[in-house]
Formats: sequence, structure tokens, C-alpha cells
Amino acid sequence: MSTSQSGIFALGTASHAYLEFDARRPGATRELATAVASLREPRTTMGGVNLVAGFRPELWRELVPDAPAGIEGFNRDIVGPDGYTMPATQHDAVLWLSGSAYDVVFDMAREAIAALDAVASVAEETSSWPYRHDRDLTGFIDGTENPDLIDAPELVVIPEDSAGAGGTILLLQKWCHESSAWESLQVARQEQVIGRTKDESVELDDKPPESHVARTDQDRFGKIFRRNMPYGTVTDHGTMFVGFSADQRPLREMLESMVGLTDGGVRDALTLYTRALTGAYYFIPSTQSLRRCSGD
Ligand code: HEM
Repeated sequence: MSTSQSGIFALGTASHAYLEFDARRPGATRELATAVASLREPRTTMGGVNLVAGFRPELWRELVPDAPAGIEGFNRDIVGPDGYTMPATQHDAVLWLSGSAYDVVFDMAREAIAALDAVASVAEETSSWPYRHDRDLTGFIDGTENPDLIDAPELVVIPEDSAGAGGTILLLQKWCHESSAWESLQVARQEQVIGRTKDESVELDDKPPESHVARTDQDRFGKIFRRNMPYGTVTDHGTMFVGFSADQRPLREMLESMVGLTDGGVRDALTLYTRALTGAYYFIPSTQSLRRCSGD
């Protein structure tokens, strides 16, 4: 029996940190993976902080014989027909920490960075916090169409008897919001951009094909599980997109659809007001695989 890392489904935490790392020495992937895997225990049960650890898919495949085939890092920019670009900023490993308050997340993030210091350096760091319970910084409810916690593991965790069982694929993408342009729109126009109402998140019957929910429609691409969070300061902020899938295809096809690489160039209207700053895929192994990698 393989178990997914529990922090993926630990909803309700108020404070988050995302740390992306690069190996200090090229080729020192075994040391990096062992050090990251060793962070798991016993810290996960201390201080109420959830720790989710993942690896560049190609790196994990080098180390683990039964890793799933065909998963790739975010190795190339995604460029739409009009030049709109989602940059590829792949790193070697990721840690996502979440907890009830920033102090415990902060302390644990510092401990983790210190524990990895000999083998890896921090390449990207973002902290996140909830906005008006379940809204993103567009002011809309984010996560309405997420599968619930009963269904989500079955939908987004690789099933038993498949390569990588208990694992999942994370797309981590930091999106900066052009808040003044967004806020200058009437609410009715914002609703057309998202494809849902702002107050209650009801899907519009006549949502335009360029609306965000039309471009990412899960009935078409397949179900994913999102743990998006707001990040940033008063003057510079946006959305940390945190999306999980058992298969890379839905995530990749949603991004291609958003930039307009499908359907004759229809670009997601939300991308007129938001800009991807980073983009990386990580394989999030099962707890058993991670423990084996730590040498325990
Ligand atoms: C600035 C970045 C983003 C923001 C602010 C954002 C916000 C939203 C909002 C407000 C909704 C509607 C409510 C809901 O069902 O959650 C939504 C739906 C959705 N978003 Fe995003 N999103 C962003 C980026 C992305 C990206 C990069 C992807 C895919 C890789 C994505 C995938 C989805 C999916 C699958 C849905 C549900 C679609 C359906 O109705 O089936 N989003 N998003």
C-alpha cells in the first residue's frame, strides 16, 4: 500500500512557504534527494507543520527504478501564437510547508534550508496567506470546481500497481496580477473573464470561450486538484498556482489552452491581467518511496 504525502490534502492551513532548490554540484542528485527525503521525519509531526517534498521528474527517475516514465520538467517556455509566454523556471527540488501560522512555517523553513545547505541552495522562495477565506487576489472564490477530499486522492494520486504509486505531479507556477488593470474592470466584465459570478462563484450559462473556466474546463482536460494561494505585498502580489494531477497531460494541456495553442488561438482572458513569473513541475513521491530514498 502506498500513501501520498499528507500535506497535499491538509486543507485549512493559514500560512504557506514554497522553497525551490538547486543542487550545489551538478550530478549530486543522490545526495540532494537523500537530504530532502531525510527532512520528512520526525518534523512532519512537530509544530503542526505539513511538509510536502518533490523533485524534478528527470532527477527522480535517475534515482528510483520504478519512477513513472514520461513525466518531464518544465523545460521550455510555453509561447502562444501572439507571443504571450509562460516561462520555464525548473529547479531540482521543492518543499511546500504549510501550517497554522507563519512563525512555525518560518522556523521550519529555516531549519530545512540549513539541513540542505551542504547540497542545495534556495533558488526561489514565496510565502502565501489566505485572502477572505477562499478567494484569490482577483476577489473570486478559487477552488470551487476542485474535487472534494473524498474523491481527490483517487483522482490525482497515481494508483496502486502503477509506476510511482502513491505519487502525484505538481505544477507550481507563480502568477503576478496586474491589479490596477483588473480592478478598473466592471464586476460584470470580470465575471466574463473568469466565467463565474464574483459573489457566489456560480458558473455563467453563457461563459465566453476565452473565459478562464472555459480554457481550463476539467470535463475536457480531466480533473486536477488545486491548492492555489495568494502571495506578495500590497504593491506586488498575485497567485501561487499549486496544481496536482496523477498524469501530466491535463496540466500541460490546460497551460497550452490558456496561451492559445489550441482552438484556433483563443487565449485565456485572465492572462490579460496576470503574468506567469515561474513554472516548474515536480514529482511528489509516496511517503514510502521518500523513506526508502532517505535510507531509513
Ligand atoms: C493567476 C492565476 C490563476 C488564477 C487567479 C485562477 C483563478 C481561478 C478561478 C477564480 C477559478 C474559478 C473557480 C474554481 O473552480 O476554482 C478557476 C478555475 C480553474 N482554474 Fe484557475 N486560476 C489561475 C491559474 C490557473 C492555471 C495555471 C490552471 C491550470 C494549469 C488553472 C486551472 C483551473 C481549473 C482546472 C479550474 C476549474 C475549471 C472547471 O470549471 O472545470 N488555473 N481558476
